[in-house]
Amino acid sequence: MSPDIRAHLKPRHLLPPLDCTPVAGLQMAACSKAPSRYLMRRAIRSANANTSMKDIVPPPPALVHQEQKMIQELFSKHVLPTYGRFDLVLHRGQGSWLFDVNGRRYLDMGGGIAVCSLGHAHPGITQALVEQSQRLIHVSNLYYHEPQGRLAQKIVSHLGQGRVFFCNSGAEANEGLYKLARKFGHTEGRFEIITALNSFHGRTLGGIAATGQEKVKKGFEPMVAGFRHVPYNDLTAIREALSPATVAVLIEGIQGEGGITPATPEYLLGLRALCDEKGLLLLIDGVQCGHFRTGRFQSFQRTLEGIKGAETFEPDGLSMAKSLGGGFPIGAFWVREKHAELLGPGTHGTTYGGTPLGCAVALKVFEVIEKEGLADNARRIGAFLQDELLRLQREHPDKIASVRGVGLMIGFELTRQIPGLSGSEKPYSMQLTSLLQAAGMLVIPSGTHVLRMLPALNLSHAEAAQAAEILESVLAKLS
Ligand SMILES: Cc1ncc(COP(=O)(O)O)c(C=O)c1O
Repeated sequence: MSPDIRAHLKPRHLLPPLDCTPVAGLQMAACSKAPSRYLMRRAIRSANANTSMKDIVPPPPALVHQEQKMIQELFSKHVLPTYGRFDLVLHRGQGSWLFDVNGRRYLDMGGGIAVCSLGHAHPGITQALVEQSQRLIHVSNLYYHEPQGRLAQKIVSHLGQGRVFFCNSGAEANEGLYKLARKFGHTEGRFEIITALNSFHGRTLGGIAATGQEKVKKGFEPMVAGFRHVPYNDLTAIREALSPATVAVLIEGIQGEGGITPATPEYLLGLRALCDEKGLLLLIDGVQCGHFRTGRFQSFQRTLEGIKGAETFEPDGLSMAKSLGGGFPIGAFWVREKHAELLGPGTHGTTYGGTPLGCAVALKVFEVIEKEGLADNARRIGAFLQDELLRLQREHPDKIASVRGVGLMIGFELTRQIPGLSGSEKPYSMQLTSLLQAAGMLVIPSGTHVLRMLPALNLSHAEAAQAAEILESVLAKLS
């Protein structure tokens, strides 16, 4: 961040380091021998009173800086470099706030990429983890247990008559849908699944073949056969792509990684009719857009609200993960009752799918969302946030090109020429994400020009207002 921008950010936007400030004693200690983490934190806490709010990105005290460096070195030495990480070492979270090892706090508008549905350190999740882990953490899927049955019942109650398979991630949930489709068309030799350009379905070999973005495939060819990509929200393109081998259509309810593009009601209804007409499965990837983020359990339910002819709409299969476990890794796919016997005994499985612990946490996430009305909160706070972003777009038409999304799945697209951002360096989306991080807010870049906000479903009005203020103050300084 340029010193120029720092100087203009208002103190209320600059979230103060909570338990950290440089102290001479600490720096001296750093020169000799690193103290324990406990001693270091105690020293940092005692120095809290001197915290200055003037500088938004104070240089971390030597000791803490050393800890940050040490952790980053562990990554560079021992972790595969598959991610381009931001320069941030996180230590703990509380609600919609994350704290780095320097004690500095950040408004978490990324929510772990749509995962932390209840925010961080939610007591309900802790309680479910503790209670269930004292009873039963894992049993093989060779046996029955109550949490998996209850969680399946819960999902079915929100989607319609059908059955659920549990797994561990979004990519794995989608793998189940590909297998469902292959089984469905097997006797007729049909296997091809049509997916959308700009889609994202995960990083397994099947996932990258299904994904409609070249960048995830590069270097991993040959691709798993049987996927065809067509433009999103374009029914004609699907019709034209049909072949005698086509067996299913798979789309995201709202494209997430591709830059937050919702499916239109006409597209969803048209797809259902087309799939019925041609004997195809309609599969929806609800991994990112699902679990009440849009104000309804699944985004297609929100998109089709009040639309004539949508009353009986149902997909044939739907994948979910991310917010389902609120941070605990769990995925699942639901299959409409009509096709529920396709994957019979021995056709599919996974060791950790639907463990008592994972299911107990996911049940708790459902319970809290329902008890606290978080679907309505996502709808209300999402609408407020979108209004704020639209206001910022009007105020900065040279910087924000468009605002899109539903509920708390929001993206804003940057213009192609933003004053104050370098044209040659990293993509604009990365540069602005870094500036926002320096100003105390985390967002998720999407491609080269879109920033996403996928915060906790219990984000408060004040926090949403703060997010808009932080963005406003950073935009104001870009000139
Ligand atoms: C729509 C969608 N599908 C699938 C995935 C893959 O999920 P996972 O990373 O849990 O495998 C993602 C991840 O971002 C996603 O956004």
